Amino acid sequence: MRPVHHAEPSSHSTPNGRAGLSACAEKLIRGRRAVRAFRPDAVPEGTMRAVFSLAGAAPSNSNTQPWRVEVVSGAVRDRLAGSLRAAHAARRTSVDFPYDADVYAPVHRQRQAAFGRQLYGALGIGRDDHAARAAYDAESLGFYGAPHVAFLFAPEGAGARAAADVGAYLQTLLLAMTAYGIASCPQGLLSFYAGTVRGELGITGGKLLVGVSFGYADAAAPVNRVTAGRAALEATTTFHG
Ligand SMILES: Cc1cc2nc3c(=O)[nH]c(=O)nc-3n(C[C@H](O)[C@H](O)[C@H](O)COP(=O)(O)O)c2cc1C
Repeated sequence: MRPVHHAEPSSHSTPNGRAGLSACAEKLIRGRRAVRAFRPDAVPEGTMRAVFSLAGAAPSNSNTQPWRVEVVSGAVRDRLAGSLRAAHAARRTSVDFPYDADVYAPVHRQRQAAFGRQLYGALGIGRDDHAARAAYDAESLGFYGAPHVAFLFAPEGAGARAAADVGAYLQTLLLAMTAYGIASCPQGLLSFYAGTVRGELGITGGKLLVGVSFGYADAAAPVNRVTAGRAALEATTTFHG
């Protein structure tokens, strides 16, 4: 029997092989960013199906794939945006995964504050103008003008592990969208209105983790020029051994 050599398949040295793939990954992963102003144009159905099929390749604990995805467009999207604004005005929030601000260490809060300064700065909203910031957040319940929004649900009673699986699906979905030229913004804010979302879509059960507004970016909008930086590798990652 011939010894098995773990040589690289020849395709890996071609432009479309490993070197090409890592370049694509750099471009894809670093090229994705949260977009907060969209054009009204709808994504074609074929593209939509390709993107959500690809997102389903996300990994999960024991391949359970515990996500449930509700994609909303057209008149249903418009009605839902109205209901979310009404719920916001009436302070009618309902949240399936409580927001636990206490988990954040000072370094996390510093990053959060730096990002806030960048975002609201791009919008021309002053750091102490809490009313304008709140108005912008309320406005964002209209999905930043995106023609579509996907809601990602975990199973009823889901804890951290199932939620982490839905998080893996989230990132896979965002990258799949980027690959197909579709802009997106994950919006945790939408999950504060879980009851309104379920009511409008006629859904019972499940825990809403996040909504993802998506469509085509409005390239002219200043808010879309915000580029959130990242911590240095050493600040988050330790190599042992
Ligand atoms: C789970 C999750 C929830 C988020 N919620 C919101 C949100 O409610 N509103 C918003 O404008 N951006 C939201 N974002 C986008 C983040 O602000 C953004 O990903 C982060 O600042 C890094 O910027 P980048 O995505 O452009 O790299 C959320 C992102 C994630 C992953």
